[in-house]
Amino acid sequence: MTVARGIQFDEPPIFERGAPGRSGASLPGFDVPRVAPAEAFGPLARRTAAALPEVSEPEAFRHFVRLSQQNYCIDTQMYPLGSCTMKYNPKINEWAARQPELSGLHPLTPPELAQGSLEVMWRLGRMLCEITGLDDCALSPAAGAQGELTGLMLIRAWHRAEGRSPRKVFIPESAHGTNPATCTLCGLEAVKIPKSDDGLVHPEEVLRTIEREGKGDVCALMITNPNTLGLFESHLPEIAKLIHQHGGLVYGDGANTNAIMGKVRPGDLGMDVVHINLHKTFTTPHGGGGPGAGPICFVKKLSPFAPVPLLVREGEHFRLDASRPQSIGRVRAFQGNFGMFIRAYTYIREMGADGLSLASSLAVLNARYLWSQLKDSYDVASDRPCMHEVVLTDESLEKKTGVKTLDVAKRLLDYGFHSPTVYFPLVVKGALMIEPTETETKQTLDEFAAAMKAIAAEAAADGEKVKSAPHLTRVGRLDEARAARKPRLRWTSEQGRD
Ligand SMILES: Cc1ncc(COP(=O)(O)O)c(C=O)c1O
Repeated sequence: MTVARGIQFDEPPIFERGAPGRSGASLPGFDVPRVAPAEAFGPLARRTAAALPEVSEPEAFRHFVRLSQQNYCIDTQMYPLGSCTMKYNPKINEWAARQPELSGLHPLTPPELAQGSLEVMWRLGRMLCEITGLDDCALSPAAGAQGELTGLMLIRAWHRAEGRSPRKVFIPESAHGTNPATCTLCGLEAVKIPKSDDGLVHPEEVLRTIEREGKGDVCALMITNPNTLGLFESHLPEIAKLIHQHGGLVYGDGANTNAIMGKVRPGDLGMDVVHINLHKTFTTPHGGGGPGAGPICFVKKLSPFAPVPLLVREGEHFRLDASRPQSIGRVRAFQGNFGMFIRAYTYIREMGADGLSLASSLAVLNARYLWSQLKDSYDVASDRPCMHEVVLTDESLEKKTGVKTLDVAKRLLDYGFHSPTVYFPLVVKGALMIEPTETETKQTLDEFAAAMKAIAAEAAADGEKVKSAPHLTRVGRLDEARAARKPRLRWTSEQGRD
C-alpha cells in the first residue's frame, strides 16, 4: 500500500525569509535614466519602500516548491471527489497547449490570421456535437454553471420567439445545486420533482408534478444523466416526450458525460441542449489548476439564439459571426478559454472514438468495483449497480458507532487519500460520494478500499480515533466554520503568524 511518509516543511510566509539586499534576480542594467518616484508620480508616489521579500533564487524556489508539496493533487494520488470527475490530466495536453503558436496568440488577432486556431475550435465543437448527438455547439461558456445559464437562456429565447413566456423549470430533487441556482438567475422558477425510492426520475412523477405545479407553464426540464446518485436515468426518452408534449424543452446537465461517452448520446434520448464540463470529462485542469470550460451543444432550432460570436465554417474558411439578430448576446470575453480547448482537443484526438468509449467503460467498471468492495463495510445509497460514482450513507455507521461521514473523510487523509465528496447529494443522509475515474488501477482501488475498510473497523473498535482524525497531517482538524467565515487571506508584518 502507498503510505504517506516523509519530510513535510512547515513553511513560513516568504516575507519571513531573506535579508535586506539579498536577491536572486539578475537583470540587465538600466538603459533609461533613473527617475525618483516622487518626480515621476508626484503626490501619488509611495513615501516608504514596499516591504517586499528579499530572497535568493534557491530560497524563492524552495519556498514555492515546499508550498506546492503541501497540496494534495491528482499528480500525487487518486482524487476520488464524487461529482467532480477529477481525472488525471495527461501531460501531452500541456505540451500541446504550450506550443508558442497557440499559447502566444493574442485574443484580438484578426480571424484571417488565426485560421488554424479557429479550425481547432471548430473541430472540437464538431466532436462534442458527435459525442452528444446534437447539431451545433457554442464553446465559450467558462464553466458548467455558465453553460447551464447559457443553455437556459437559449431555451427562454426560443420560447419568446414562439410568442410564449413559460416560467417553470422542472428539476429532480437530486440535481446538482447549480441547476436551481441557474434557473433563478435566469429569472425562471425552479419546481422540484420529488425523489423516488429507486433514485430515478419516473415519467408518472414528472406528469404529476406538471399537473400539480405548472400545466401550461412548462419552460423546461433540467436533468442530469447519469444522475447525482450515480444512476443512469433509464426513462429519459419517455420523459423528454412528455416535456415536449407540454411545450417545454429538455436541458441535459452533461457534467457526468464521462460515464457515457460513445455509449449513448443525450440528443438521441430527447435532450435539446446539454453542457459539458471540459474540466471533468475532457481532462482539462480544475479550479486552481486552470480556468474551466463548459461548452453547450444544442438542437438546430436553438441555433439562432446561440451566443455571439458564433464560429462558422464557410468552405475552408472560418469566421466569427457576431451579427445574429436573435442571439442571446455575448456570455464570455473573446472566444472562451482557448487553452482549455486545445487540451480537450488533444485528449479527444489522442483517445479516438474507441478510446473515449473505453474510458467510459473503465470509469463505470472502477466505480462498480469499489461499490462491490465497500458495500459490506458501509451502507450504499442505492442497491442498483452504479455508473461512474458510488454513493455511501453514514446512516447505520453513525447509529452503531457515532462516527459520521466527515470523520471518515478526515481519517482518509491519514491513509494518504483525498476525501471523496461529502454531504452531497443532499437527498442522501451523510452522503460520501466516491468517483474513482477510469485511470486508477486495480492496485490503487484496492488500496483505497483497504483504507475505507480499515476506517470502518476502527470506527467499530474505537470511534474516538476516527472522530478526532486527521492525526498524521501537517495540521489537525480545522474549525471549518471559522475558516469559512473568518478566513485570513493576507499576511501583515504587524500581525505576523499565529
Ligand atoms: C452534475 C453537475 N452539474 C453542474 C456542475 C457545475 O459545473 P462547474 O463547477 O464547472 O460550474 C457540476 C460540477 O461539478 C456537476 O457535477
